[in-house]
Amino acid sequence: MALDLLIRNTSEVLCVQGEIGDTPKKALTSISDGAVGTAQGRIAYLGPSASLPPDAIGPDTAIIDARGGFVGPGFIDAHTHLVFAGDREDEFALRCRGATYLEIARRGGGIQRTVRATRASSIEELVALARPRLCRLLEQGVTCAEVKSGYGLTLEDELKMLKAIRSLALDQPVTLIPTLLCAHAVPEERQATREGYLLLCVEEIIPAAAQAGLAKFCDAFVEEGAFSVAEARQILRAGCSAGLIPRLHTNQLTSSGGALLAAELHASSADHLEAISQSEIEALAAAQVVAVLMPTSTLFLKLPTSAPGRRLIEGGVKVALATNLNPGSAMSENVPLTLGLACLQNGLSPAEAYWAFTRGGAQALRLPEHGKLAVGGPADLVVFSCDSYRHLPYHFGVNHARWVVKGGRVVANNPALAECASSGPAIAGDI
Ligand code: NIG
Repeated sequence: MALDLLIRNTSEVLCVQGEIGDTPKKALTSISDGAVGTAQGRIAYLGPSASLPPDAIGPDTAIIDARGGFVGPGFIDAHTHLVFAGDREDEFALRCRGATYLEIARRGGGIQRTVRATRASSIEELVALARPRLCRLLEQGVTCAEVKSGYGLTLEDELKMLKAIRSLALDQPVTLIPTLLCAHAVPEERQATREGYLLLCVEEIIPAAAQAGLAKFCDAFVEEGAFSVAEARQILRAGCSAGLIPRLHTNQLTSSGGALLAAELHASSADHLEAISQSEIEALAAAQVVAVLMPTSTLFLKLPTSAPGRRLIEGGVKVALATNLNPGSAMSENVPLTLGLACLQNGLSPAEAYWAFTRGGAQALRLPEHGKLAVGGPADLVVFSCDSYRHLPYHFGVNHARWVVKGGRVVANNPALAECASSGPAIAGDI
């Protein structure tokens, strides 16, 4: 059968079918001089170029000449807050002069500031603000991203955020996975009656979001100034009862104990983890909770310690990487910067970092078909202008995605990278 799209003349195709603890070769499952063919949005051929069947190319087959670049699955960004209004540039300037994230939050800035701006925006405005952020992720090869609510903090505004995510999901190519984060902060008007806000979450916001099918996950921020372990337990249990999968922001600024709660609830992921102990690492491993690391936030917040990626992997924890795109702790969509920092600050090898931003992200989001290339699986992939995954964290902070393919369709094409390809002439008529 003729293919819809064929990608050939690659240095290698990374199928990423192994696990993070495997050797790089096994974890990334590379096919040298490989080719990838798609039909009807799925992968129909994956193997050496030399073994392509003679009938694979028909008159309508589009061909991408990778010119010696490598091909891998689309990146899975497992933690973002990309729907929000307003910005916090002035808080950044204050932090540059020494103010901390928690100090700014105590003065009414931080998350509460973004809540005010987000509440004042319509669904259409939120979608319009989020779209360019999503485009920047897509251009770098992100084909699936998780997106959280958490800047509404009323029934109406949390649902508005989730509807904005749904609306965005319908009119651009990146698959969006929605997470309800009504437990991001206690809203300022409820500070004196936080139990009342917890009840609102448990009895109204969580059931309403779940019943409307607007969220897959339920998240909570366990931190000084946010929620205690006991409060987060109450929220996430209500989420589980409503059919939402638990996950947690935890051990980011302080050793909050949330990692143990993630293990207790068998959460899909525990995210941040700059301040995690060895016994908490062991608990995450035993409960098979994925650790989502976001080193751009560690840098952006000037935190004194990085999440111990090396110890997590050696302790048997699956690790994912994410951008954490948000206005307060990581105002950046940069995937290769995240990969570079994961190696430099978290102790991951380039192969582990690549695995963590593909297969690791898919495992954190419970997407068994994503983050890897397999015949019959979704044709979500990236053709890079460089010949190895090793180049991405090394040449860090720079986009190397030449073509991005989603469901078999080219959805991003970066011709500025055409001259960077390392070998092979273009074939006339090729994309
Ligand atoms: O994941 N830690 C909590 N939530 C975000 C920051 C949100 C904000 O500051 O607006 C995070 O880092």
